[in-house]
Amino acid sequence: MLELNFSNMMGEVIGERGISERQIEGIKTTVHDIDRRIKGRERNELAFIDLLEQDTTEIKGIASDIRKQFENFIILGIGGSALGPKAILEALSPLHNLDKRPKVFIYDNVDPRTLDRILSLIDIKKTAVNVITKSGSTAETMASFMILWDKFSKSVPDAQKRFFATTDPVKGNLREISNEKGFRTLPIPQNVVGRYSVLSPVGLLLAEVIGINSAEILKGAIDIHKKCSDPEIWKNPAYLFGVLLYIMDKEEKKNINVIVPYADGLKSTAEWFCQLWAESLGKLGTGSTPYPSIGTTDQHSQLQLWMEGSEDKVIIFVKINDYGCDLKIPMIFHDMDGLSYLGGHTLSELIKAEEESTELALARIKRPNMSISIPKVDAYHMGQMFHFFEIATAFAGFLYGVNPFNQPGVEEGKNFTYGMMGKKGYEAKKEEVIKAREKKMCWRV
Ligand code: PA5
Repeated sequence: MLELNFSNMMGEVIGERGISERQIEGIKTTVHDIDRRIKGRERNELAFIDLLEQDTTEIKGIASDIRKQFENFIILGIGGSALGPKAILEALSPLHNLDKRPKVFIYDNVDPRTLDRILSLIDIKKTAVNVITKSGSTAETMASFMILWDKFSKSVPDAQKRFFATTDPVKGNLREISNEKGFRTLPIPQNVVGRYSVLSPVGLLLAEVIGINSAEILKGAIDIHKKCSDPEIWKNPAYLFGVLLYIMDKEEKKNINVIVPYADGLKSTAEWFCQLWAESLGKLGTGSTPYPSIGTTDQHSQLQLWMEGSEDKVIIFVKINDYGCDLKIPMIFHDMDGLSYLGGHTLSELIKAEEESTELALARIKRPNMSISIPKVDAYHMGQMFHFFEIATAFAGFLYGVNPFNQPGVEEGKNFTYGMMGKKGYEAKKEEVIKAREKKMCWRV
């Protein structure tokens, strides 16, 4: 079971810059109130909790057909429609494309070089495309869809059999196109928001396509949900996670949260968490800043900053108890003191020792940190992590007094893009961009 160890956040361990039990107790009534609001589904978007009980028959059926018929599987999507699948792929099937089929390509950014390269690597006749977009109209996803649909429909007779759509059950452009062309579709339930959708067909279809039992992912989520719905703060790891980061932000001015998994396969999970936390909480002038990192690699890149830079960070380690395999370091070069100590140990001993030492080094100089440990990187524990972070983030939204399910701040940039790309009704936005360009000409070197 996932465990949260927050000893190094507490005053008793790291001194006056740490949190006291009294501070946590002081927030207890608010926590009980938020717990009631979550259970009473104060916001419809809490529907992501219902995903744990979904029927996965259709997902499994489509995935099985894709596995049988195709050598390549392209996912088009962005934000919440891409980061969850990426996290699943990298955690549960690392370096997948080197020896597994179908090969998977997750294309989210609209960088033309990337899509051009993907197209040069695949044979369209052997390729399936899953277009993931809740709204059915996101510019990046739909532009790439338009390119691929055009190419496929011009080169293969039954192009519609190669396209799958994961989208809103009833509305949106992609739903309309799917109905018209006859694509097979999977629904993203109406009240489930993009960044809380990894446990919907958004993430589960890919899991099944790469041979992972989606029921295991959901089982993990169901099991952690019992703990994460305990109204008692001291027993609920998700609520505690939110409370600790909230207190550190509001009372200690530590508003940067670095998430550092000690596993290469969890790099994308760290990015997934950062989107979830940032887009859910960064509004009304509040919210703490998450940034993704990776251990041990960033001990040789970022650690200096965490140790001796501005005291504005909380470091969140993600530890793996059992890596599922190991490699022994041979007992060679014993006459070299600088190397001989390594011989006879294993790589997992080394990575764990480095993680524990970094925790301690930070704690010794009173820099707050906490750790989330999971027994293994497998489907069951990925399900636990996803759900744990989703509950923690939604809870934190209530604590900060913001709506953790909207993203009003991203609209203005979109509106300017619409104007520049000639969307009807956005002509004034285009004018603004052109005017702004004049100002931008003044200060250049
Ligand atoms: O969390 C969110 O709602 C966003 O990050 C969306 O997932 C992202 O903007 C993509 O939206 P859509 O799935 O509608 O294409």
